[in-house]
Amino acid sequence: MKRTRVLTTVAGVAAAGLALAGCSGGGGDGGGSEGGSGDEVEVFTWWAAGTEKAGLDALVEVFDEQHPDVEFVNGAVAGGAGSAAKDLLQSRLQAGDPPDTFQAHAGAELQDYIDAAQVEDVSDLYDEFGLTEAFPEDLLDRLTVDGAIYSVPANIHRANVVWANPGVLEESGLDPAAEYASIDEWIEAMEAVEATGKTPLSVATTWTQVNLLETVLLADLGAEGYEGLWSGETDWTGSDVTASLEHFETLMGFTNTDRDGLDWPDATQQIIDGQAAFNVMGDWAEASFAEAGFEAPADYVYFPVPGTEGVFDFLADSFTLPVGAPHPDGAKAWLETVGSADGQTAFNQAKGSIPARTDADTSEFGAYQQTAITSFAEDTIVSSLAHGAATPVAMLNQITDATSKFTTGASDLATYQEELAAAAGE
Ligand code: GAL
Repeated sequence: MKRTRVLTTVAGVAAAGLALAGCSGGGGDGGGSEGGSGDEVEVFTWWAAGTEKAGLDALVEVFDEQHPDVEFVNGAVAGGAGSAAKDLLQSRLQAGDPPDTFQAHAGAELQDYIDAAQVEDVSDLYDEFGLTEAFPEDLLDRLTVDGAIYSVPANIHRANVVWANPGVLEESGLDPAAEYASIDEWIEAMEAVEATGKTPLSVATTWTQVNLLETVLLADLGAEGYEGLWSGETDWTGSDVTASLEHFETLMGFTNTDRDGLDWPDATQQIIDGQAAFNVMGDWAEASFAEAGFEAPADYVYFPVPGTEGVFDFLADSFTLPVGAPHPDGAKAWLETVGSADGQTAFNQAKGSIPARTDADTSEFGAYQQTAITSFAEDTIVSSLAHGAATPVAMLNQITDATSKFTTGASDLATYQEELAAAAGE
């Protein structure tokens, strides 16, 4: 297969355990590439398995209909939040071996690739495909740099959601419909769950802990204070940050001990299986509840992380045209499908996210997704840390390393706070 040639090159630099997904068959005619022709497109994502792959498959189905002559080549690399994919992508870009298009988060993460001149300006495609009017202005602002635009967004996800098992809550003497105004109130509920022997809060490997951390900071500092962490206006060494890190420490004390060996689907599964009461995860988790046939509020409940009501912790997956992409025409075909109303409807319905386009048909979307559509329109929008909207990759990596040290007991809270401040350049 053509893509095996590409991916074999990178296998030498890739860490063990990367899952390289197979070709979906794009209905192409199998004709040879004429150098820069569009008859194939290698799409690099981390949607390699489970419901994430199902989302990608739904998008590929629309792609095959819209571009039957272009073969989809799946370059997915397993690992939630791009935990393995982003390093591998960087190696490939630096080696001059880019995929035809890759997944990147709108915001600071994309800025990294722009600054390194690794992605092309695709403003022309916005004109050609009529995308400028299709996306909300807020989102376009986050994608535009010096008047140019470098990617096409596929979706909008929300990172500050609690998912909970109502049966476990009832067993703990808690009302599944209860609302918690603050992290402190929520901690009281966790104490009740702990008394039953069940896990109060499920979590997985480090990036999911960073996802939890960002929502706790958001709850405690408020939207403005939280955004100030990324703009430099909030002091990382302040006592309000210390208090928030203490909350994070307390919450981590309620989590499953096998967490570091798990990825997000495992932590979500603990809610589905009734092993744990609460889980904080972006709304890709919604796809897992839907896959399990769960209906809210009977089988699961969801609400913004306590203290973050009215705030939408935002991220968007977008697709790029890398500099030196071997099949730029194939990449353009992919970007057209990603930005199309049909592509956005099919992909997001399966993925748990909401369309970035304002005119995509969402009438068949589930109840959770309808709440996300309303919240995105009405809430204060802030940028997700764990998902590339708030900081460059290097800073996120430093925060992730500091978090791992802290949650594995290799550093204390004071050191953790110092390391976070250092990551922010303080
Ligand atoms: C995010 C990504 C989502 C989802 C999640 C878990 O970074 O934007 O689409 O895939 O990671 O892997």
